[in-house]
Amino acid sequence: MAHTTKTSIAAAFAALTLSSAAAHAQDFPSKHVTMVMPYAAGGPGDTIARIVGQGMSNAFKTQQIIIENTAGAGGTVGSARVAAAQPDGHTLLLIHVSAATNPALYPNLKYDQTKDFEPVGLVVELPSAFVAKKAFPATNFSEFVAYVKANKDKVNYAHAGIGSASHLCGLLFSAAIDTKFTQVAYRGTGPVMNDLIGGQVDFTCDQAVNVVSNVSAGAIKGYAVTSKTKAAALPDLPTAEQSGLKGFDLSIWYGLWAPKGTPKPVVDKLVSTLQAALADPAVKDKLATLGATTVAKERATPSALDAHLKAEIAKWGPVIKNAGVTAAQ
Ligand code: MLT
Repeated sequence: MAHTTKTSIAAAFAALTLSSAAAHAQDFPSKHVTMVMPYAAGGPGDTIARIVGQGMSNAFKTQQIIIENTAGAGGTVGSARVAAAQPDGHTLLLIHVSAATNPALYPNLKYDQTKDFEPVGLVVELPSAFVAKKAFPATNFSEFVAYVKANKDKVNYAHAGIGSASHLCGLLFSAAIDTKFTQVAYRGTGPVMNDLIGGQVDFTCDQAVNVVSNVSAGAIKGYAVTSKTKAAALPDLPTAEQSGLKGFDLSIWYGLWAPKGTPKPVVDKLVSTLQAALADPAVKDKLATLGATTVAKERATPSALDAHLKAEIAKWGPVIKNAGVTAAQ
């Protein structure tokens, strides 16, 4: 008798928990959702966050997504904030490849990207491009490389902090041309772009969404894209590989995560809302004109993001260790 009672109480409790999670998901979102973008306002990450965030707000219908720029330390400050947030689906992290490079760069991270988050899905992919201030004395990529090599102690390279995509590109470029140059860290490539346009820094490697309009306006010089294939949004730029950097291939991907422990029905709601946003022509077209491609529906899923993250950690870890770079903390 006692055994039966115990089992039926456990079953009732389990049913109660399930139904409260389902009820919770039905109410979700019950307030605005904060999407943490761990780089400064005005950069590529911020631009992508605002476009995708608007698409998700439209899909939610009842609640807005607000973007919170919590910058610093290559995206790790914002990431730690989300890892520690209430796991109720109302705080999300939108971050890119630095989710996979930071574990090798920051020895004392306050979170484990593979354990302290619930993956929602991959979001977009886009190339970066090598760009310089208007006065940079090179008319093509090979002259650009030759000038950097010949003036390595004079030129300065700006990036968004150790672990950022612009830092990773600089690390790969420095290895590819076997030349070390001065690097200047900012809290995002929004501020970098302001100083590049102003001529205070010499060159960077920034994501297409932050480069397209500035190159077409002639505010900066573009030399090559980092992807294996040319970018429709930057038609005049060759690829770095076509221009002599054999095997150079860097595409920046973004993923969306919630804190570990976010109930599955809530994660499911976030997945369907992300997928609806990525299928929205207004979102797709706006991102495409800026050089970013929304991922296919089957990749905007927790399993696809989790598998991609683990593959990227395995890919970049040895590259970073070989480069002998860590962020002293
Ligand atoms: C970077 O990784 O360089 C950042 O994405 C730039 C930014 O978004 O500010």
